[in-house]
Amino acid sequence: MPGLRSYHSFHLSSSCDSLFVFEDVAQLQTALDNTSHYYLLGEGSNTLFTEDFTGTVLVNRIKGISTNVTETAVSLQVGAGENWHELVTFALKQGYHGLENLALIPGSVGACPIQNIGAYGVEVANFIESVDYIDLATFTQKRIAHDQCQFGYRDSIFKHTLAGKVVITQVNFKLPKNYKPVTTYGELAVLNQPNAQDIYNEVIRVRRKKLPDPAVLGNAGSFFKNPVIGLEQYQKLLSTHAEMPAYKVDKHHMKIPAAWLIDKLGFKGKTVGEVRCHPTQPLVLTNLGHASGEQVIQLARQIIDSVEQQFAITLEPEVRLVAKHGLITL
Ligand code: FAD
Ligand code: EPU
Repeated sequence: MPGLRSYHSFHLSSSCDSLFVFEDVAQLQTALDNTSHYYLLGEGSNTLFTEDFTGTVLVNRIKGISTNVTETAVSLQVGAGENWHELVTFALKQGYHGLENLALIPGSVGACPIQNIGAYGVEVANFIESVDYIDLATFTQKRIAHDQCQFGYRDSIFKHTLAGKVVITQVNFKLPKNYKPVTTYGELAVLNQPNAQDIYNEVIRVRRKKLPDPAVLGNAGSFFKNPVIGLEQYQKLLSTHAEMPAYKVDKHHMKIPAAWLIDKLGFKGKTVGEVRCHPTQPLVLTNLGHASGEQVIQLARQIIDSVEQQFAITLEPEVRLVAKHGLITL
């Protein structure tokens, strides 16, 4: 039974019946022909294997980057198995700007459109022109254009209509040449006329300060999404929690930092067995070394229940939890 500890960033000691790494579409087809029950994995930085998985884990390592430079933009066609941060670094070195706010986000390029990765004022959707995938019903190659991807906050069509029905093989990016640095996010606003390299450096510095390194302390980044609530509920909460931070989403909705809700309830540093709510960023749960899936679920449920009771807000996990037979919900 292949171990999955090194295949996901939370490093739980789970296993699977078999594991297959594919580097091209032909190898993917062979793997699919030989399994009926599988879980598709990139770099496992948003996935926790909470139990031994009774199926095949298919690991995507389709590589390759090609570029096409025009007068106004740079197009990048990138294999889904490329590493995201290496792509950001490659683009910056070539003088192709825009992705630097997303530096140091772990994971594969193929997973980036799925939850529309975002950080420091930028979402990857801004740069995705189209996504190529294998339609698993017919095993044919298809392309979906940006406008059809239904990108939202940590969301896309790949989490809904196309969930479980496709394997993303390539992501096609367009980086306009009229680059303007994005410094709207708190920590970046202090930079004085930064260029792309300055933003890249600062994002890496801040991320290293705030977030635990999964190579040292297993984790999957933010465990929950930041909840979006209606204006009415927001105003009601403000009457009892005047200091509650919030960001405007649109005329009718506000986004509340889940870290603040969890912090307020005193969860920072709280442990269940070997799972800990991170002391400096409570939205992150960490594996102190020998955590079990059960302990993760126990602490996550305690947090969800407390936030629900105190604030009438239901936190939704950002991470994917894979148990014995596949994906589970909390
Ligand atoms: P996996 O965990 O391997 O897979 C995630 C999901 O995508 C699974 O459902 C899987 O089945 C599916 N999938 C993977 N590859 C494919 C494919 N080729 N085709 C179809 N489906 C596929 N995220 C952010 O948005 N912003 C952040 O700032 C951020 N910071 C993080 C910091 C840390 C320390 C960590 C550990 C994680 C962070 N994340 C962040 C979450 C994570 O980096 C992203 O979700 C990333 O895109 C996951 O990539 P992956 O390849 O590891 O995905
Ligand atoms: N806060 C507290 N106590 C704390 C820490 C934070 O109250 O101990 C509050 C503060 O009000 C702070 C706010 O939470 O201003 C936001 O914190 P932070 O800037 O660290 O961002 P976040 O909302 O916790 C989000 C993303 C991160 C992304 C950062 C930077 C989600 C779920 N998370 O975190 O993404 O890197 O912003 O843009 O949207 C991930 O998705 O895995 C991830 C790490």
